[in-house]
Amino acid sequence: MIPKEVIDRVRERADIVEVISSYVSLKPAGRNYKGLCPFHKEKTPSFMVSPEKQLFHCFGCGAGGNVFTFLMRYEGLSFQEAVKALAERYGIEIREFRGAYDKLKPYHDINRLAYEFFRAKLLHPREGRTAREYLLSRGIAPRLWELYALGYAPSGWEVLKGFLESRGGDLLLAEEVGLLVRGERGLYDRFRNRVIFPIEDYRGRILGFGGRIIGEGEPKYLNSPDSPLYRKGECLYGLKQARDYIIEKKEAIVVEGYFDVLSLAQHDVRNVVAPLGTALTIPQLRILKPLCERVVFLFDGDEAGRRAAMRSVELLLQEGMEGDVVLLPEGEDPDSFVRGRGKESLLSGRSRAVEFYCREVLRNYDLGDPEGRYRAAQTLLGLLEKIEDPLRRRFYLEYVSSLLGVEPQLLMDRLKMGVERGFRRRIPSPSAEEALLALVIQHEEVLDWVRESGILEEFTSEALRDIFKEALKTRDEGRDFVTEIPVMLQERGVGEGVFAFLFAEGIEDPRRVFEDCVRRIRLRSLRLRRERLIEEIRKAEEAGDEGRLKVLLSQQQVFLMEERALLEGAKA
Ligand code: UTP
Ligand code: MN
Repeated sequence: MIPKEVIDRVRERADIVEVISSYVSLKPAGRNYKGLCPFHKEKTPSFMVSPEKQLFHCFGCGAGGNVFTFLMRYEGLSFQEAVKALAERYGIEIREFRGAYDKLKPYHDINRLAYEFFRAKLLHPREGRTAREYLLSRGIAPRLWELYALGYAPSGWEVLKGFLESRGGDLLLAEEVGLLVRGERGLYDRFRNRVIFPIEDYRGRILGFGGRIIGEGEPKYLNSPDSPLYRKGECLYGLKQARDYIIEKKEAIVVEGYFDVLSLAQHDVRNVVAPLGTALTIPQLRILKPLCERVVFLFDGDEAGRRAAMRSVELLLQEGMEGDVVLLPEGEDPDSFVRGRGKESLLSGRSRAVEFYCREVLRNYDLGDPEGRYRAAQTLLGLLEKIEDPLRRRFYLEYVSSLLGVEPQLLMDRLKMGVERGFRRRIPSPSAEEALLALVIQHEEVLDWVRESGILEEFTSEALRDIFKEALKTRDEGRDFVTEIPVMLQERGVGEGVFAFLFAEGIEDPRRVFEDCVRRIRLRSLRLRRERLIEEIRKAEEAGDEGRLKVLLSQQQVFLMEERALLEGAKA
């Protein structure tokens, strides 16, 4: 962790125009500076830097951020490394960095202590019995408990707390890493009646924990919150155990959950890791990149699995990496599959990442309809643009053209136009949720309005909702959320519209923009709920359930009235 004061000093000293100028030649353009975008190929400049806002944005490819994310992206650095590089450049004392590991030692120690507790409970003849039986019932043998250092958190509310106390552990530290939670009556154990999965880095230091409820219950999985040691988007479960196998096989298999990792390991498939309760991120891919040549995404065959695979392929190509996708039959995850059918046919439905992507696009658009075909072509061109190697791009272009039944030359011209003339890659216009985030970057007080309005619960983008929550937390901890928001966007690969919005509009009346955004978000969420309601009405009609129908119809009236009120409000 870099001390906040260092980040603050760096932010005050490092001027974005000055920093970017050492990589890109910038010319004044009105209140901004303009240059050729370093993140995509272009001949006319669409890359803008604002000295006032201390932000950059490319109108061609959508890249955007602050001075830190510029370096992260350009030099492939983590946030910490970017801060460090700038601190060095501006001669800001960074003595603190050398002590970084030691500073974290108390956190590692408290996790280690908790880990010993969880281990002992799992192995305790009486107390650990249900947990051991649960693991065995899921086909996970004691050899694996050892290998993955599994543990058990008993059902009480203050069992771990009592143990830590008796061992002289610092309870506040335990709270900070999320082992204990503060409630009205003081601190209590976060993990109760759960199998515990320690999340280790590859050197075996414990960063956090995951826990699965034994049997039924909510939430099914619980993870440590982000802490000085642990950021969920930057860690991979099973990395320590898989690392050597990934290197040896030159291939990493990415699955969705803890039990997928364990089950595959139980069947001697060892080069497997999983992200932790989120979609895969760029920082996680960058952990794998130096270790292997290929990544295999092994996901469930349901809609969510497909979407996750699509998104992962985009990130993969963006990182210039190669890989394959395997979607299992509906209703199966890697855990159930390998237990039911063994590992032999596990990867047999394997397709190349790009081919998978193309097939999915074709599945999602109606190619019989000219407009559908056009849209499919646009989407696929977007993917082709991400392929850096010209030869590979050429071959995939031929592949795409045969899928669409379009002359390769036509696609080629389009792609050239896109790549060389700064042709606007289809950057969607900013969503209301993105606009809201843009507003927060410009006007810090808006964060309070967001909290008070309760609008986060109606967000459709989970990533953006997470970022808002993270920003609120960052602020409560007294850190600088305005600097961290672009970093979070960059790490999760979302929110291009945020910078598009900031550069397109001078925000004069934040309250009005805020209210407008809130209204748009409410309206959409209302419409979604109404669509679901209509579906239920249809079902109730089919079933001839008069009573239910009546309830649903009056509910529909309420929705319509709310919707009308929102629309009226917009006109006023
Ligand atoms: P799944 O819901 O697909 O669970 O979540 P699973 O791995 O098949 O679990 P079992 O087989 O029922 O035990 C996949 C992953 O998403 C995260 C966890 O990392 C989980 O392994 N997750 C899921 C959560 O973080 N929280 C949840 O409540 C559910
Ligand atoms: Mn499962």
